Amino acid sequence: MGRRVTVTVIVTVIVTVIVTLLFLLFTVPGCGKRVIDGQQIAKGEKIVIKFSHVVAENTPKGLAAQRFADLVRQRTGGYVEVQVFPNSSLYKDGEEFEALQNGSVQMIAPATSKMSMLDPAWQILDLPYAFRNLTEVHAMMDGTAGRKLFARLEEQGMLGLAMWDNGFKQITNNQHPLAQVKDFKDLTFRVMPSKVLENQFKQLGAAALPMPFSDVHQALADGSVDGEENTISNIYTQRFDQVQKYLTISNHGYIGYVVLSNSEFWNNLPAEVRKILEETLIEVTVWQQRKAEEVNNNHLEELKKQGQLKIHLLSPDEEKMWQQELLPVYDRLALEVGPEWADIIRGLKNNGR
Ligand code: LMR
Repeated sequence: MGRRVTVTVIVTVIVTVIVTLLFLLFTVPGCGKRVIDGQQIAKGEKIVIKFSHVVAENTPKGLAAQRFADLVRQRTGGYVEVQVFPNSSLYKDGEEFEALQNGSVQMIAPATSKMSMLDPAWQILDLPYAFRNLTEVHAMMDGTAGRKLFARLEEQGMLGLAMWDNGFKQITNNQHPLAQVKDFKDLTFRVMPSKVLENQFKQLGAAALPMPFSDVHQALADGSVDGEENTISNIYTQRFDQVQKYLTISNHGYIGYVVLSNSEFWNNLPAEVRKILEETLIEVTVWQQRKAEEVNNNHLEELKKQGQLKIHLLSPDEEKMWQQELLPVYDRLALEVGPEWADIIRGLKNNGR
């Protein structure tokens, strides 16, 4: 393990140094000017990329966004500055897409559930118990379905650059432990803006209330909702354990992100810059997909240490009952998105059952 890490660090440093030197060699002909794509650029002139997101910094998405910013700064000698705005500090849910389309920000990474506001087919990733692990998610997104979802974004002037993971969702609430389907009766849960997620809770006998992520803590605290579903990392970093009593480890759904840019902005970047950004994104995505599980596991240990939540791990039998109860959610989505997605949805419905 120690030896492999050292080699990785040495290789990363060597690569960074070579790329930086090459970049500077070709862009700093003499004092005061850079040459990018044959263009003379004034010293100090920068390309600024505003990257807005809604979660905390020490989360799978927050860490990846910052790592991307740091590597890009290193590799462009500071010529490209990625400014990261976490915690909805610049734009909150429901504002990000417009800000990207009108050029107020250049990068965002919304959850796939929120992508359903642009294209309902993204709800496929919200289907309960559709994926048993992250490898299955990646396989679908690297396949025809994933490529089709990404290609359709361009019709809206957006460019899907990468898929980042968070992980699988758990459920918290304030009323009582959730083990049986009947335990959901008459409770209200906050959801992301996705009909599949609303139908999921309705199918279990509960109500669902879509709202921006940044409003959830307050809504849990004042009781306008009884509970919510999220990854451990979001539950921990948003301190939902301060305003919730019960946590069920259910792994019932996936949260992942689409790293997006504005097509016009991205395609008009100098080719050398775009190359460094895209290569660095690939590298950070590999790192991020490995890191996501680790971060969630560490945060679960922290939650246990805090001891605020009464934790129930869903048994295989209980999970089977939830899965069976939730199958109609697949049929409703198939009706909504039409025949072109029918095979994919059917495949996920029968996945491992
Ligand atoms: C949520 O709204 O619950 C999540 O999508 C937030 C996030 O980006 O992880």
